[in-house]
Amino acid sequence: MQNISKALTGSGKTIGFVPTMGYLHEGHLSLVRYSRAENDITVVSVFVNPTQFAANEDLSKYPRDIQRDEELLIAEGIDYLFYPTADDVYPPGYQTFVVQDKISSLLEGEFRPTHFRGVTTIVAILFNIVLPNRAYFGQKDAQQCAVLNRMVNDLRFPLEMKVCPIVREADGLAMSSRNIYLNETEREEALVLSRSIRYAEELIKKGERDVANICAGAKVLYTGVNSAKLDYLSIVDYDTFEPAEELVTGGKYFILVACRIGRTRLIDNILTNV
Ligand code: PAJ
Repeated sequence: MQNISKALTGSGKTIGFVPTMGYLHEGHLSLVRYSRAENDITVVSVFVNPTQFAANEDLSKYPRDIQRDEELLIAEGIDYLFYPTADDVYPPGYQTFVVQDKISSLLEGEFRPTHFRGVTTIVAILFNIVLPNRAYFGQKDAQQCAVLNRMVNDLRFPLEMKVCPIVREADGLAMSSRNIYLNETEREEALVLSRSIRYAEELIKKGERDVANICAGAKVLYTGVNSAKLDYLSIVDYDTFEPAEELVTGGKYFILVACRIGRTRLIDNILTNV
């Protein structure tokens, strides 16, 4: 893959890169379309990265269907599909990790302490193999984008990071490969995530500035939703991901939620300008 990329770049072509863990949906495909529109060549990787899953998480049952993914990507007109094995990426003796220090420890980092270390490591490896000019990520994983933006800036990766909008189902549920785990009741109850952050946004639009009040108001929507166990519903500064207390006019914030619906852990967010 690296040799192919070097040859392409050498002949003056630009490379757009979309890293994924596969089991593709419209959210992933939207990233592919942005890349196709802005680059000569589009490379997509499909790799369920073991280092970003903790021992108690869903690595072994994470949904996989490489044949279907391949068909979808061919239909989108991509140029290269890179799908290495875990042994290709982490051969025996592998012992180097990339750690983003601060943003990684907050929110998702509190509930999944080793997660972002795995993400920054795999994305750094993939960047060094694929050598893209631009890389495409979804705002669905807003904190992942913030962590990776810092990594790219701090380590001077010579590429441009592109963050693309969240793609949702018609009823508002953010698309996710993990939605496949939900049974019928859970699928309905999972709407509480998008509803609660939209409600928080409405309170802000109505003039509420006290974060504790906004979050308390939004959390009321979880009462009576039997399958839901909220990990966090937080409002943080757009740049630092530090929790906000009082929103200020002109400020840019993420309203973020992570919630387990039955045994499935889902996340969602809205970017809001106050
Ligand atoms: P994965 O969950 O497969 O997501 C791949 C990319 O698709 C990520 O950038 C993610 O934010 C984006 N994406 C997922 N759902 C989306 C939606 N509903 N709308 C828009 N974009 C969406 O994120 C990962 O894989 C991994 O952590 C990875 C970066 C590949 C490293 O292993």
